Amino acid sequence: MNAPFGRRRCEVSEVRDSGGYRLFSLLDREGPEPLPGQFYMLATVDRWAGQGERPFLPRAISVAETGPAATGSRLDFLIEGIGPGTDRLCGLQVGEEVWVNGPLGNSFLTPRELTPGAAGAILVGGGIGIAPLALLRRSFGERNIPTRVLLGFRDQAHSGGLDDLFRCCEVGLASEDGHVGHRGYVTDLLAAMLAGDDAGSAAVYSCGPPAMLEAVRALCAERDVACELAMESPMACGYGACFGCAVPRPDGTYMRLCVDGPVVRGEQVAEVAHA
Ligand SMILES: Cc1cc2nc3c(=O)[nH]c(=O)nc-3n(C[C@H](O)[C@H](O)[C@H](O)COP(=O)(O)OP(=O)(O)OC[C@H]3O[C@@H](n4cnc5c(N)ncnc54)[C@H](O)[C@@H]3O)c2cc1C
Ligand code: FES
Repeated sequence: MNAPFGRRRCEVSEVRDSGGYRLFSLLDREGPEPLPGQFYMLATVDRWAGQGERPFLPRAISVAETGPAATGSRLDFLIEGIGPGTDRLCGLQVGEEVWVNGPLGNSFLTPRELTPGAAGAILVGGGIGIAPLALLRRSFGERNIPTRVLLGFRDQAHSGGLDDLFRCCEVGLASEDGHVGHRGYVTDLLAAMLAGDDAGSAAVYSCGPPAMLEAVRALCAERDVACELAMESPMACGYGACFGCAVPRPDGTYMRLCVDGPVVRGEQVAEVAHA
C-alpha cells in the first residue's frame, strides 16, 4: 500500500523501557495500515538537529506492531539507541510529535507465495531485528499459518522487546551469555530445526545483525529452504531518490534496499556483507 505523499506529524501516545531498548507508540490518523517488514522514516519535530549538528536526516525504523486507535491507528516502534538519531527517538515523551513518512518498502510474502511446498514459517530474529517479526508473527497467526519463532540475544541488555512483543507465543530462545535459553547463537537452533524432517515444508523469515542474516541465508541455501531476509543499509531518503541504500545483487547490478527491499529473498543477495 502506498504511503501518503510527503511527511506528516504524529503524536507520541505511549513510551516505555523494554529490556535495554525503548518502545514508543505513535497515533497515525492518516496513513494506511503498514504490512509486516515495512518501515517509516522518522524524525522528531523538536530538537532533531541543532545548528550544523547531527542527526540531520530522518532515520529508518521498522514498524513492530500496530493496532486500532480512537482515530486512525497506533504504530509501535522498538528502538536501540546507537547514535544521535536513535538516542533522540529513545528520549521521546508522551505528547511530543514525530515527522513520519511511510509505510515504505516492500513486505514479507507468505510461505506458499515464497515456495509452493512450504506450509509453515520459521521466524528467526536477533537483537533489535526482532522488531518487524512481531507484526509478521501476528499476521501469519491471523491467517492460520503455522509459525515457529526463534529469537537470539547477545546479553540481557540487548534483549528488549521480548516480553512486550512476543508475550503471547512460544519462542525458542538463545543468548550468547547464556542468561536465557540455549547458550550460543540463534542460528544453532535454526540449524537443528532445519535438520528435522519437516524443514522442507517451512519457509524462513529473518531480521537481525548482518552476520546472523548471512548465517541464516547460508543455512537455508545449503538445505534448499526458501528464505526472506529483512536487511538494513544506511537510508537517507527512504523512497528511491538518493541511491544511498544500494546493495549488490549476485549478477553485479545493484538494488535500492528502500524500494526493492528491505525484504529480499535469500537468492537475491550473493552474501550479506558483515564485518
Ligand atoms: C529498513 C530499516 C529498518 C530499521 N529498523 C530499526 C528498528 O526497528 N529499530 C532500530 O533501533 N533501528 C532500526 N534500524 C536502524 C536505524 O535506522 C539506525 O540504527 C539509525 O539510522 C542510526 O542512526 P543514529 O543517528 O542513531 O546513529 P548513526 O550515528 O547514524 O549510526 C551509528 C552507527 O551505525 C551505522 N549505521 C547507521 N544506520 C545503519 C544502517 N541502516 N545499516 C548499517 N549501519 C548503519 C553507522 O555507520 C554508524 O557506525 C533500521 C534500519 C533500516 C534501514
Ligand atoms: S534511501 Fe534513498 S534511494 Fe534508498
